[in-house]
Amino acid sequence: MTTYSRLSTSRTATARAGSNIAFIKYWGVSDPILNLPLSNSISMTLADAYTTTSVDWDSRGNLATDEITVDGKRMAGKSAERVVRHLDRMRTLADQDFRARVVSLNNFPMASGIASSASGFAALTVAGCAALRLDLSPEQLSALARQGSGSASRSIFGGFVEWEKGRDSATSVARQIQPPDHWALFDIVAVVSAAEKPVSSESGHLLAATSPFSAARIDALDMGLTEVRSAIATCDFERLGRVIERDALAMHAVMMTSVPNLIYWQPGTLEIIHAVRRWREQERIPVYFTIDAGPNVHLICESAFRVAVTDRVRALKCVEQIIVSKPGPGPQRMDTHLF
Ligand code: PMV
Repeated sequence: MTTYSRLSTSRTATARAGSNIAFIKYWGVSDPILNLPLSNSISMTLADAYTTTSVDWDSRGNLATDEITVDGKRMAGKSAERVVRHLDRMRTLADQDFRARVVSLNNFPMASGIASSASGFAALTVAGCAALRLDLSPEQLSALARQGSGSASRSIFGGFVEWEKGRDSATSVARQIQPPDHWALFDIVAVVSAAEKPVSSESGHLLAATSPFSAARIDALDMGLTEVRSAIATCDFERLGRVIERDALAMHAVMMTSVPNLIYWQPGTLEIIHAVRRWREQERIPVYFTIDAGPNVHLICESAFRVAVTDRVRALKCVEQIIVSKPGPGPQRMDTHLF
């Protein structure tokens, strides 16, 4: 990490936050402005796929606009506006109108079904609020991060996390259900394409209601949530695996039947789904898949099978890259900055 300590004024802060993989997915909003979801969701925060973000609020009035750089590229257009809207939320809370310089680095490919928006908005929220000296509780940080990106509400906590859909902005927050060391699960991400996805999840959530399957999925979800909570509490891997595959397929069925339809899968996605079944059925390797809003497949297994699964994924021609992660902590403040 590059450090220019001369720039670290008291209006500067840096935070690192892990991405997360949802076991029960969030897909669809009841309030698109506040990002209130149609259902609860449950995820595991990742230790090894994270975003580091530095925020410097310009109290001297040198900046005319917010300057946002992600992975070395100056952001413009819609993605920059989304970050500016989040900076506005922090400005409102602090009753300040400072512009900000934001520099952010992901250690994994953005916009490809690995939730860079989750880790990105969690890190931005924690760094931005710290630099403004806003003293928010973890629940308040989670509610704020949620307005940037729903899944970011979960990345405010480490380990195994449930986001309560809530009744309003203050109650739609995440909480930790188990710490990271509760269960040595691994997320092995088989990247079949690291290209930016054609339709963002932000737009996808608005389409969920156009699918006849969305209401059916949400109606059945309480059972899935209960199963996943209980599988996590008792570290029951088979039980967890069965439910996460079912919910990932149900969410993609909603995506595929919305108007217009969203097909995030690539041929490699289906190839990996079939490979996972083969490894499970023919080789007795306990591994299950889940897929977010992208073509890449997250293979979930326990630590004893990490090497066996990684070796098999590496042998598949459709896989461009593999990211392996264990459960990780919540956001952490860093004392060196990215400027
Ligand atoms: O937080 P968003 O708007 O990027 O939505 C995330 C949606 C999924 O990754 C597909 C599911 C989830 O719960 O993370």
